[in-house]
Amino acid sequence: MKSAAKNALEPLFTERRRRVEDYLARVLTDTHIPAKLAEAMQYSLLAGGKRLRPVLCLSSAALFGCDEETLVPFAAAIEMIHTYSLIHDDLPAMDNDDLRRGKPSNHKVFGEATALLAGDGLLTEAFVSMTRTGVEPQALCAAIAELARAAGALGMVGGQEVDLELTGRPSVSLDAVQAMHALKTGALLRASCTSGALLASAPKEAFEHIAAYGSELGIAFQIADDILDEVADPALLGKPVHSDRERNKATYPALVGLDESRRFAAEHADRARRALETFTGRDADFLRALATYTVERVSWCLRLFLIPLQVRTRSKPCRGTICRNLRMRFANA
Ligand code: IPE
Ligand code: IPE
Ligand code: MG
Ligand code: MG
Ligand code: MG
Repeated sequence: MKSAAKNALEPLFTERRRRVEDYLARVLTDTHIPAKLAEAMQYSLLAGGKRLRPVLCLSSAALFGCDEETLVPFAAAIEMIHTYSLIHDDLPAMDNDDLRRGKPSNHKVFGEATALLAGDGLLTEAFVSMTRTGVEPQALCAAIAELARAAGALGMVGGQEVDLELTGRPSVSLDAVQAMHALKTGALLRASCTSGALLASAPKEAFEHIAAYGSELGIAFQIADDILDEVADPALLGKPVHSDRERNKATYPALVGLDESRRFAAEHADRARRALETFTGRDADFLRALATYTVERVSWCLRLFLIPLQVRTRSKPCRGTICRNLRMRFANA
């Protein structure tokens, strides 16, 4: 079972990620962008990352027979929005983290003001990119509205505010943490799936299944992220560990411990898989396998997702450590 799911995931993930990478490498090359701003935007956007959100968008559209190539500008736009959220998330006024995608955080290299603007620029350019998507206008408008709502005050941005408000509180309920996770991380992951379905003009009932899949996957993904903050190797993860604990963040491990957190993550991943049980074929298998490995990211999925990231890493101090770690861990894998 495990290797069947792995086989369903790896080649397609690599192929879809490559399409997105190729596009992202070309997207911010207009020489009229002020040089420092362009460098700051590209620094974070091209630093790697799993590219999970654009891959989800392409895969959800493919489930309904949509030609992936025409959707790459839209899928890449989701990655641009996600990258902006990471730059802002690391700022001293937010999580104050110094490492991201295996490199010093954007503000450590370019300063806080340019990091803010790099995030603003990525968010805005994402909408330019969306307009380059090759589907009919009604489907495109619906997908843009879906993504904008998920990224904004009712979604990711709202969730980040709730995250700030829950930080340091002496007692927080699990329901409150789950609601925060659904917004700050779940909304964009859900919209990665639903926007793909809208671009492909999926039927209403099928759309609801995809939406349920994305919502459950989103929560599972953030619980796994909370767990990784406790247990992962920072060199392998590409960002600091124990950051949540040091900042007194409201997380699943803080509330219920690691074992119970793993159980919750597995349960949400299971619900995600079950939301797709009426779908058959290569892309349905792929999405189900992604749900499985979202919560097993500390095993081989880290390898699948992070090796391409680290190979591209330009930051010499980090690169040495990461390559050493990877060699040690995976020499016999
Ligand atoms: C990190 O997202 C931020 C969260 C929402 C948990 P990812 O784990 O997808 O980060 P990258 O894109 O691979 O760097
Ligand atoms: C961030 O959650 C979610 C975002 C919207 C960026 P985290 O603060 O846990 O993400 P990491 O661990 O810094 O990537
Ligand atoms: Mg945060
Ligand atoms: Mg953070
Ligand atoms: Mg985290």
